[in-house]
Amino acid sequence: MAGKLNITLKKFPYSYLPYEKRLLTREAAAIGKIKTDDASGLQISVNANQVKAALSRLHRLTYFSHFSVGTGPVVPTQQFLLETTANGSCTANRQSTRYSTHGFHDYKGKFHPQIARYLMGRSELTTSSFVLDPFAGSGTVLVEAVHYGCNAIGVESNPLAVLVGNSKLKLLTCSDRELKRFHGGVQECIAKLGTRKSINTLASDLDIDTATLTYLQSWFAPAILLLILEFRTTCRHRLGPEWVDTADGILSSLIREVSQQEPADLRIRRRKEQLTRAPVAAMLSSSVENLISRTLAARKLLNDAPTSAIELAGDSRCLNSVLASAQRVPVDCIITSPPYATALPYIDTSRLSLVALGLCTAPDLRRLERDQIGNREISPYERKQAESEMERKLQSLPRQIGKFIHELVRKHKNSDAGFRKLNMPALLVQYFTDMKSVLTQTHVVLSRTGTAYWLVGPNRTNAGEKWLYIDTPQWIGTIAESVGFTISIDELDAYQRFGLHQRNGIRQEFLICMRPV
Ligand SMILES: C[S@@+](CC[C@H](N)C(=O)[O-])C[C@H]1O[C@@H](n2cnc3c(N)ncnc32)[C@H](O)[C@@H]1O
Repeated sequence: MAGKLNITLKKFPYSYLPYEKRLLTREAAAIGKIKTDDASGLQISVNANQVKAALSRLHRLTYFSHFSVGTGPVVPTQQFLLETTANGSCTANRQSTRYSTHGFHDYKGKFHPQIARYLMGRSELTTSSFVLDPFAGSGTVLVEAVHYGCNAIGVESNPLAVLVGNSKLKLLTCSDRELKRFHGGVQECIAKLGTRKSINTLASDLDIDTATLTYLQSWFAPAILLLILEFRTTCRHRLGPEWVDTADGILSSLIREVSQQEPADLRIRRRKEQLTRAPVAAMLSSSVENLISRTLAARKLLNDAPTSAIELAGDSRCLNSVLASAQRVPVDCIITSPPYATALPYIDTSRLSLVALGLCTAPDLRRLERDQIGNREISPYERKQAESEMERKLQSLPRQIGKFIHELVRKHKNSDAGFRKLNMPALLVQYFTDMKSVLTQTHVVLSRTGTAYWLVGPNRTNAGEKWLYIDTPQWIGTIAESVGFTISIDELDAYQRFGLHQRNGIRQEFLICMRPV
């Protein structure tokens, strides 16, 4: 019988959240038998004939910074090196989530890259695997797939998120020559800023309609709007069309800061004091340098095997046809964090960027918001219409949801609830109906041996004097079972995502694991 070999796994210096401690133990246990576990790390033992298989997993560990096999050298994991691209040195006491191209943009609702990576390892994905994120947002899962060394495809309905996601991927996967040309080109565009005088000429160059220009003028001081439009036009002339989006993405990361919007406010409250000037060129230049240096450092750490990763603009309720047109079915794994039930208005929170970058006209913002799953916008007429269809829709949803909705309607009936609360039952029924349609499609596109991981949290709504708990994870799980998955649900206790501090938020997230029956 083959002998045993000891492997030492070293922990990161940051303090782990309780759920991370569980995932860390699971990562180690998937490689070998755990012998000791203390503050600095774990000792595991593997059969000598399994060391080769173990080695390929050791490099890809998420929650360990280094490993050593037997008396061999101490080797950093790829994750340690990637996190170092943000920290400079990985002695930071906080886990980094802005490493590589993740820091490109602060898209609201981003989730922890470490979780995506951990799940790829747990699914034992290989270089030929395809991972799908049907709510790809700013592309966290797709970027992690590139780091991990597998293929990825995302679907997303917010055009800003699609632009951000694809820009991050392009920066990581383009040739060295292209990246160098982009870097030099965009800095030249920044250096030229301040030479153009007329907002109207720039707006007409960029095909901005009058309503949209008026909107922009209400949110940016003239001197700042001039620089924004000038940067966009200059980049269009100087960079090739394939790099314009990336330049726009860089601009987008500072749009809030230079607008009249209160930067600390998620929605669209105005600053108390008008901002008349801002060092736009210096801000852009420093963003570019920061981004390029992290990107260059991360690119050195990628596997040689080229991977394909793309984020498609589309609606996940039509997932099957979006993926079929891209000829990317079936996929081996699904990792996603879907929108919460009536939680975060993704379009509203990115509206200034959407309009300033020409991704949406000002009058079209409302339509875009309404097309999102989980949105809170519904007119009185639409609500009446939705209410008349509610019982029929509830027939095809799990009984717990029907029970909850009926209780909510009953509580609102004899109260003086405002329109937001009265909208809730119809919006929730629509949300779970939409989720059912996405889950049905994910069942079709997922390989029979694959796993889908959905990370979602509960929230709550006030009815009468009482808070009612909206058990989204459990209900999504039950819907998943009804469309042909077996499920298990893990709690990720202290996981915090942006927006969870809102009144209706609850600081809890759950990981729903779904396997086709
Ligand atoms: C929680 S966020 C995902 C964030 C992502 N994991 C990241 O790290 O950036 C949910 C996303 O679902 C998107 N979404 C909402 N409705 C959609 C739909 N019908 N089809 C595709 N995406 C949709 C929202 O725009 C939002 O970006």
